[in-house]
Amino acid sequence: MADYIYTMEIRLTPDQMKGVNLVQDIARAAGITLYLTGGAIRDIISGFTIRDLDFTVQGNPLKLQKEFDRAGAQLAGHDEDARTLFLVLPGNVRAEIGMAHTEHYEKVGRPPVITPASIQEDLRRRDFTVNAMALSLNEGSRGLLLDPFNGVADIEAKLLRILHNYSFVEDPSRLIRATRFAARFHWPMEERTQQRYDSARENNYIEHVSRSAVGHEIAQLAHEDDPLNVVRTLEKEDFLKVLHPHWTTAKVDSSGLSQLMKTRQQMVDLGYTVDPSPAVMHFLTAKLADKDLSDLRRQIPRKDLIEAWRDIEDHAKELAKRLTGKEAATPSRTWNLLSAARPEMVLFLAVTARHQTVAGKIKNFLTKWRQVQQRIPLPEMTELLITPQLPEYPKIARDVFMLLLDGKLRSRTETLKFLKPFAPPPPPPPPPPRRGRGPKGAAAAVVAPAAAVPGKKGEVAKGKGKGKSAPVATPPATVAAPVAKPEAKAKPEAKAKPVKAPPKPAQRPAKPAAKRPAKKTVRKKAKARTKAKKR
Ligand code: CTP
Repeated sequence: MADYIYTMEIRLTPDQMKGVNLVQDIARAAGITLYLTGGAIRDIISGFTIRDLDFTVQGNPLKLQKEFDRAGAQLAGHDEDARTLFLVLPGNVRAEIGMAHTEHYEKVGRPPVITPASIQEDLRRRDFTVNAMALSLNEGSRGLLLDPFNGVADIEAKLLRILHNYSFVEDPSRLIRATRFAARFHWPMEERTQQRYDSARENNYIEHVSRSAVGHEIAQLAHEDDPLNVVRTLEKEDFLKVLHPHWTTAKVDSSGLSQLMKTRQQMVDLGYTVDPSPAVMHFLTAKLADKDLSDLRRQIPRKDLIEAWRDIEDHAKELAKRLTGKEAATPSRTWNLLSAARPEMVLFLAVTARHQTVAGKIKNFLTKWRQVQQRIPLPEMTELLITPQLPEYPKIARDVFMLLLDGKLRSRTETLKFLKPFAPPPPPPPPPPRRGRGPKGAAAAVVAPAAAVPGKKGEVAKGKGKGKSAPVATPPATVAAPVAKPEAKAKPEAKAKPVKAPPKPAQRPAKPAAKRPAKKTVRKKAKARTKAKKR
């Protein structure tokens, strides 16, 4: 059996993995059976980006709200009928926790009757084979993959396959989903699925799609890696107007969107975790009327997305204003301001800023100022023993960076002059090996004190005065510039004050060397001993 836990652990981001553990702990404590399901499993196995975590529990997840709240998760919405919680787990991890259920469609176009069910039954009500898998997160079966429709084989074959002939009739939103997945993964539909899809389109089943399913699909567009491509494909298949009758690709700000995706990649490469979804929605609907925008937003089930999308322009304006004020009067202050800002706002402003000063500052923040970090003389700092082992290292490295940014340290010589006073005193040299008097002492002197094993004959016992272990200097670790990391949630610094050099550390007084008897005296004493023996 393939080890899916291992695959999961290496494919999920550290924050997503923490999210899995958190949900697992809460479900275990509540005695509820838990599975990772749907798109998360598909993406773990296929190697595509894992956009969110879908969990299914055998029980009612709405009862766990308080526990999630206590664990620091934000509730982004819930669906009372399907008993689903929409959460943002710590680390900005999107998650959905749904109840395992069956859906019974009594009439086309009517919402299904939802009944609690086992995980096996739940998998049977799903859209495509590649989405109908579950990974157990339960004690005793953790890592077991339930794959009743051979979804793994379809992932390998890169095919979208419905589970039964009535799939598109029962839930016409699957027509939109099939189009979206085909555009995203470039996976064609399997032959029979394609036939059912064509016939459902011809018979216009899509007009029976439920409002809540439409809202869900609108929100999903925000998380696509290539949203413009997906929107174009939906339009070609006549499904974009299902999401909103006035929505066309002409209403999209395509150049803004493509700039957004490029800048997002640039920020990801710099190490930022940035959620572009509110900005994606902004550009996808840039030319729609305000009323259409409110209609679209009203249908989306996740209130975190609605709010972030609605407020993005106002928040960006606020940040732009601060960037033109005193708070950003110097490069170092601007750096601190942008480091403390939400990466989502930096991203949005990077694409939309019209004010030259604002645009220039953000550009410098993402490019030119990063190169200044390379001027921090790391090898020389290591030589000076200014390494991450020092408690004050982060502050020193940060101060050098700030001074370099502001042009207050203009050359290497100036930088080293600034750094030298921070160098800690070198570690004291190891004490010289002790020479003993008799053969015992001589043997002890031969044994290197650091390698001494306490308790063995002829060797030196540790910490008993005689032959204490010499202090071993730890090799300096590789130094990483701490300022290189994005500081999404760092507090803004008050002022970048030039740093005063610390007072010179007092040198430790050298230990007086132990007095040794003069050579002559030793020889005399030895002679006396030999005489005594002879006698
Ligand atoms: N699902 C379904 N039919 C639908 C919507 C959802 O069967 N109309 C099931 C699928 O098993 C899907 C899971 O619910 O995998 C989660 O839905 P959703 O988050 O919309 O889809 P994902 O597959 O996770 O897709 P994405 O990668 O776009 O998030």
